[in-house]
Amino acid sequence: MDERDWRRYLSAYHDSRPGITERLFQLADTSPYAWLAGPLRAVPGTVLDLACGSAPTRDFLPGNDWVGIDLSQGELAEAARRGRGPLVRASADALPVASGTIGAVCAAMCLPVLTPLPQVLGGIRRVLRPGGMLAALVPAQSGLSVSGLLGWARVMSALGTMRQPWPNPQARDGLAALLRTAGFRVYSDERRIFTLALDSPDAAALLGDALYLPDLTPRRTEHARRTLAGWARPGRRLPLPLRLVVAERPADHAGQEHVGSGAHQTGAHVRPHRSRRGAPRAGLPRCCGSRRPGGWS
Ligand SMILES: C[S@@+](CC[C@H](N)C(=O)[O-])C[C@H]1O[C@@H](n2cnc3c(N)ncnc32)[C@H](O)[C@@H]1O
Repeated sequence: MDERDWRRYLSAYHDSRPGITERLFQLADTSPYAWLAGPLRAVPGTVLDLACGSAPTRDFLPGNDWVGIDLSQGELAEAARRGRGPLVRASADALPVASGTIGAVCAAMCLPVLTPLPQVLGGIRRVLRPGGMLAALVPAQSGLSVSGLLGWARVMSALGTMRQPWPNPQARDGLAALLRTAGFRVYSDERRIFTLALDSPDAAALLGDALYLPDLTPRRTEHARRTLAGWARPGRRLPLPLRLVVAERPADHAGQEHVGSGAHQTGAHVRPHRSRRGAPRAGLPRCCGSRRPGGWS
């Protein structure tokens, strides 16, 4: 699948399944979003939630100045329905945000699927103020026990595939190295194993639907749904390894802008999306301070 087809797939997928990642994470024993929000709470300035989806992190950062950006109308409508905002419709590879104005970028479950990744990372670095933080939550592949591996083999075999054709597989366990190459200073790289409760056929169907499998035919999907429903039962658990990488835009990159980072598109392509909690902001923050984030340097 080439990049254009992938983007088309992703857009249709999220418009028709708004909030799917948040719903999947509601099956977890503890919230991965709470883990992600931890290092972001003390950061001064605006937190930009990149590819925010239904904006679940908003609820975990009640004291922060926050703005969510996503490309999917469906996801943004779901976020607004849940009273989360302000929200902006824009693409992660062309952020309509002034350079050096953002205190932190929160990237939940998006870096392995956003394209083109070099532009996305360049854009994150551009909008962060010197010393600003990137906190990224991604799926991990390592860390599974034998029974965990067998559980996942069962799921993937029901779906008729052994791999997810994501465009940036290196942005999972290899994310820290990738960020270093892209000019970030990495502060921490941790893996945590969450546990999904597959107690019911609905929970198992949600898992099967949440995995980004563009090649699945409707017939195969139906077969997988039935197989996974038969496997689900009270007490059925599946481990979900995730990785949280926290990095900084080093001060020595101050003022530096990169080709393809979206630096020349500030103020363009902004279609504010109304929400109950906050007013939309076109052009986006010029309000961020220049202090270093506290408590993690
Ligand atoms: C796996 S979901 C994660 C959503 C949310 N961060 C969460 O954790 O619940 C990936 C998100 O990326 C968004 N997305 C895909 N391509 C995008 C792009 N080019 N620019 C901005 N958002 C994009 C999708 O609409 C979707 O909301």
